[in-house]
Amino acid sequence: MFFNNKDVNSTKNDSLFLPQIGEKRLNLHLFLALISKRVIYVLSLLVIFEIFFKHMKVVFFSCLIFTLGVCSFAKGAELTVYSFRHYESDTLLFKRFTEETGIAVHLVKSKADTLLERLKAEGSKTRADVLITSDAGRLHKARAADLLQPVQSEQLNSRIPAHLRDPEGYWYGFTLRARVLVYAKDRVFPEELQSYESLSDEKWRGRVLVRSSSNIYNQSLLASIIASNGEQSAYEWAKSVRGNMARSPQGSDRDQMRAVAAGLADVAIVNTYYLGLLQNSESAKDRAVADKLAVFFPNQDGRGTHVNVSGAGIVTHADNVAGATQLLEFLASDAAQAVFPEATYEYPVVKSVEWSASQKQWGDFKSDSINLSKLGILNALAIRTFNTAKWE
Ligand SMILES: [Fe+2]
Repeated sequence: MFFNNKDVNSTKNDSLFLPQIGEKRLNLHLFLALISKRVIYVLSLLVIFEIFFKHMKVVFFSCLIFTLGVCSFAKGAELTVYSFRHYESDTLLFKRFTEETGIAVHLVKSKADTLLERLKAEGSKTRADVLITSDAGRLHKARAADLLQPVQSEQLNSRIPAHLRDPEGYWYGFTLRARVLVYAKDRVFPEELQSYESLSDEKWRGRVLVRSSSNIYNQSLLASIIASNGEQSAYEWAKSVRGNMARSPQGSDRDQMRAVAAGLADVAIVNTYYLGLLQNSESAKDRAVADKLAVFFPNQDGRGTHVNVSGAGIVTHADNVAGATQLLEFLASDAAQAVFPEATYEYPVVKSVEWSASQKQWGDFKSDSINLSKLGILNALAIRTFNTAKWE
């Protein structure tokens, strides 16, 4: 022990500096010296611990901030996109978007109605941030079901023409398609064609092909006719065109063109990009079909040819609204817009972007400038009108 007499005595005997100090005083001095040593020792330990814990605190909070940062970055660095579009070029576009922004895109592809039902079922638990689908009728349906939220972006509003987007920003069109007449070059003179309405003329009896009325492209076309000519006139048109069909409605737009090329009918109503896909197909058979056909843009003397879009909106319960807005703005950029005409033969919605060779060959045209959201509003009436006119 430090304070026993033996220790004190031995210290006394060995000491050269305190021979005159009495034993009592010496003990006190030694005691104080030892206490000071002990205090210094304890204080040193405390300082060391203090410094250590201070550093630990800094290290701990740094880790916490870093972890939270990583978590929030990870959340902000990904987007889930539900898309009805099935083009490889879209996947490449998303890849380019990721390279430019660091935001990864998780793509979920499915049928249009399946995606809407899935969004409804998932509600606030959905992982989807963006919905991409074709036709303003469907986009409007998504808005009406409260599946989309409005987005205000100067960039989107300035680049996308007003009639190709929802007036309140719930969805934006990114690619444009015209629903045109294609005709058999060897049996029809273009001068014989004028408008959608002219297909109700008796001279086309047994010569027209159009797909089923359950198809949204036809529903939107009829909605545009209702908006222009009224419900009664649209009904009479649907009834007459159904009466002029070469067969009951069936198949896709491409099937109508194949049937016209095969001589089953002389004129069909189809979307432009399907003709582009046939014209530029790797299949010689497809190209032979396209060779027999030509495009006529109807209603050039009136309201213009019916056009529609495929477009996108931000999902109501999206986690990453900022990233979703960035993706929409990217799709409206020159770089993305330039991809669509070449890859899918859809028109760009941004006027200054160059068309593909096929589109240039089809020629310029005047398009109906009705706001496409109105076609969504009239969709239910269009379906009823088709049913009354017995267009299956
Ligand atoms: Fe399509």
